Amino acid sequence: MKLFDVYPINNINIVKAFGSYVWDDNEVEYLDLYGGHAVISIGHTHPHWVEKIEDQLEKIAFYSNSVKIPLQAELADKLGKVSGKNNYQLFLCNSGAEANENALKLASFHNGRKKIIAFTKAFHGRTSLAVSATDNRSIIAPVNETENVVFLPFNDEEALKQYFKENGNNVCAVIVESIQGVGGIKVASKSFLQLIRKLCTEYGAVFIADEVQCGYGRTGKFYALDYAEVNADIYSMAKGMGNGFPIGAIAISPEIAPKYFMLGTTFGGNHLACAAGIAVLDVIENEKLMQNAEELGYFLMQEIAKIPELKNVRGKGLMIGFDVPGELKDLKKNLLFKHKIFTGEAKPNVIRLLPSLALTKNDAEKFLKALNEEVAFLVSQTENISAAINA
Ligand SMILES: Cc1ncc(COP(=O)(O)O)c(C=O)c1O
Repeated sequence: MKLFDVYPINNINIVKAFGSYVWDDNEVEYLDLYGGHAVISIGHTHPHWVEKIEDQLEKIAFYSNSVKIPLQAELADKLGKVSGKNNYQLFLCNSGAEANENALKLASFHNGRKKIIAFTKAFHGRTSLAVSATDNRSIIAPVNETENVVFLPFNDEEALKQYFKENGNNVCAVIVESIQGVGGIKVASKSFLQLIRKLCTEYGAVFIADEVQCGYGRTGKFYALDYAEVNADIYSMAKGMGNGFPIGAIAISPEIAPKYFMLGTTFGGNHLACAAGIAVLDVIENEKLMQNAEELGYFLMQEIAKIPELKNVRGKGLMIGFDVPGELKDLKKNLLFKHKIFTGEAKPNVIRLLPSLALTKNDAEKFLKALNEEVAFLVSQTENISAAINA
């Protein structure tokens, strides 16, 4: 049997990882500023995380949600504390798409409505309703097409006001990434997020903050929405939550009441996943990783902005994007194969940095040195080519 070929991949086999570094099967070392797509929050194979998972594995890995699982309550307590939202309720699942699927479904159960507002360039996952709320026609299968989702322009306050004015009483939920990830590190303005809050409250719609990529401390605050100083009714999360162990969740406002069987899952909240999740929060707190993300992110953005060829440096904390002009199109590839540094991308021309929140200043400087060198190299190459053409 062969693999179903859905990913264009780099020909690299990573066999070992620690902190912000990974090694391939030839023992070549790479600096990881991609974090396996924003997943590595506390650093690869963090000793506390390994120990917690190993300890749990020796006791019990899984039992279904038909019995008490005290680790779930422990995770909920810690998450409430670290996120500053103690009065929210936690529902555990296994991935980001699943978190958003449950968030949207819960919103609809809550107010009985159907219309979902999502935004241009949004990415919310690949399951049925999550993908319908994703602004990419090419990944929406015919069976997932629905008139229940409307896309409004991101950061356009007038369009949002107008839509609510005309249809507000039918709006079930607004789902938004405070910083769009797949969409290319697009930061929602504070006033836009505050307007979503205001209109949702006014019209009885549910405000869903998709924090799957921008959340969990990555921006320097626990939720990226915290920068707007408003609360969502539901926060969805996954990626950084398990540092690579699959776990997702929604944090639900106390105003939304649960009913038996409205949501459910076999694997969500299993013992091993909870152990991983608790270890991640321990480390985020003990090693002050949100503060580190904020400080190092600021440093990186300031330094990248000094390279004139790279445009529109943007983001918050360790969620950073910048535009790469056409002449430097090999930059990402050369960072990987020449300098042994993994970075992320967003089509067509954005480099995304999504490193572990435990990145060190030394490693940030190592990246900046490589970036400066590679940009200078690519610029000199284009200059040589144009000199040859003009000669
Ligand atoms: C903002 C956002 N939401 C949802 C998802 C889907 O998460 P998963 O791949 O875990 O289903 C992603 C994944 O990239 C994401 O970036």
